[in-house]
Amino acid sequence: MKKDPNLKISAEDYLFNIMIVDEQHQRFIGIYNNIIKLSEDKPNVTNDKICRVLNELSEYLKYHFKTEERLMMLADYPDIDKHIKEHIFFINKIDEFILANKYKNPVLLDNMLAFSRKWFLSHIMQTDAKYIDILKAYIDHHPDTK
Ligand SMILES: [Fe+2]
Repeated sequence: MKKDPNLKISAEDYLFNIMIVDEQHQRFIGIYNNIIKLSEDKPNVTNDKICRVLNELSEYLKYHFKTEERLMMLADYPDIDKHIKEHIFFINKIDEFILANKYKNPVLLDNMLAFSRKWFLSHIMQTDAKYIDILKAYIDHHPDTK
């Protein structure tokens, strides 16, 4: 597969200046790049390799969503319910991928790539971006927040 420069995500483009969130979002870039690598090397991709990335993504999202949801709760973020619904949507999607991998779905990698991109662009850049001011204000007043 030819490299598509549009697939690349640049980490500097989406810093929120909320350290704990930024660090975790950076980790996502690493996983996303692994998915790109796999889709560039399709003939050598095994179910096992896909399984490993999916497990990593699943663990990562659960951990990351917990962090965000805790911070939103602490900061009394008004749109939290809507935000959590999006998190649930993404977690369910990963479960679907894990199932699709068992059935060796041939378009799974393409779907994973499209999903990761959508998660990044629509969730991080739009939904997450809405909590920046409220979370920052909370953390400024509670500097020990972890
Ligand atoms: Fe989020």
